[in-house]
Amino acid sequence: MSDRKTIAVVGATGSQGGGLVRAILADKSGEFRVRALTRDTKSPKAQELQQAGAEVLHADVDDVESLKHAFEGAHGVFGVTFFWNHFSPERETAQGTAIAQAAAATGVKHAIWSTLEDTRKAYPLNDTRMPTLMGRYKVPHLDSKADVDHVFSDLGVPTTYLLTSFYWDNFIHFGMGPKRGVDGKLTLSLPMADAPLGGITAEDIGRCAFGIFRRGNEFVGKRVGIVGEFLTGQEIASRFTEALKESVAYQAVPSDVYRGLGFPGAEDLGNMFQFFAEQEKDFAAARPVQLSRSLHPKLQDLRTWLAENKSHLKFD
Ligand SMILES: NC(=O)c1ccc[n+]([C@@H]2O[C@H](COP(=O)([O-])OP(=O)(O)OC[C@H]3O[C@@H](n4cnc5c(N)ncnc54)[C@H](OP(=O)(O)O)[C@@H]3O)[C@@H](O)[C@H]2O)c1
Repeated sequence: MSDRKTIAVVGATGSQGGGLVRAILADKSGEFRVRALTRDTKSPKAQELQQAGAEVLHADVDDVESLKHAFEGAHGVFGVTFFWNHFSPERETAQGTAIAQAAAATGVKHAIWSTLEDTRKAYPLNDTRMPTLMGRYKVPHLDSKADVDHVFSDLGVPTTYLLTSFYWDNFIHFGMGPKRGVDGKLTLSLPMADAPLGGITAEDIGRCAFGIFRRGNEFVGKRVGIVGEFLTGQEIASRFTEALKESVAYQAVPSDVYRGLGFPGAEDLGNMFQFFAEQEKDFAAARPVQLSRSLHPKLQDLRTWLAENKSHLKFD
């Protein structure tokens, strides 16, 4: 028991981190034990993880000292930050930096940092094809994660840079699924033109992270992109049609229209979809599906995810 390697998981009660916690708890090899980090060790979700066999410890990514305490003695750390809780790219970069600093201070052997592309490499700030947001960003919630990457390497933390993908779960929780129009028909509206969208279940992100930890040092210092599959808007609508046994049409919304929808984060997400659509080749090249499947053989595609989750979809 005592020679098991501890993996400390930030965001353990959430989607990505939760997937990793469940993967470690389900692993029969006995190589790892899991330390689930939360701001509230008494919450029902934290208690549930404890009862399932996780060590549960307090940590807050706004407090580097709490992270140092939480990472003490751990072999590995999974780091994720929470842009949509506060919508501040600077705060997200500070949170990611705190994770890197705590990992360095505690001598962690392997960190996996959940990151995304720096979209300013494809669209410099003076590039008028895409509006600059908040003065320093093209896609704030991607760029703010990318801004942390160098901190891990500068501090000498043995790190795998995990490039995640669009959650299929957004069709439920982010209100991005098909909507019923006044004519009674279902339409899936996405600003992806005819380009493929790379998607994955949030749970599978954590499962793939576990696959990386299991493969030892193989991916240390590397960027590993993960995805379930790539599907065009038309193909996604067809999967919904098949699962719901009701016709779902795809409507390609122009990026400018999406940016102007007025909900919090609409401009950020409009830019993100423009980046996904226009940079589709580079985005896909960074995410070979076979690699994701080798990390997690039960990786879900949209069809299998919909079969399990379609009852949670809301169409209004
Ligand atoms: N939606 C997408 O398509 C997508 C795709 C790729 C990447 N992402 C990125 O994924 C990130 C979010 O990850 P997620 O979906 O796994 O999050 P999530 O499901 O929203 O989980 C957030 C968890 O993090 C914990 N948390 C929140 N603030 C914290 C803090 N200050 N310190 C420590 N823990 C904190 C909360 O746990 P406690 O309350 O227990 O502390 C919560 O359970 C975002 O940055 C987003 O940009 C999203």
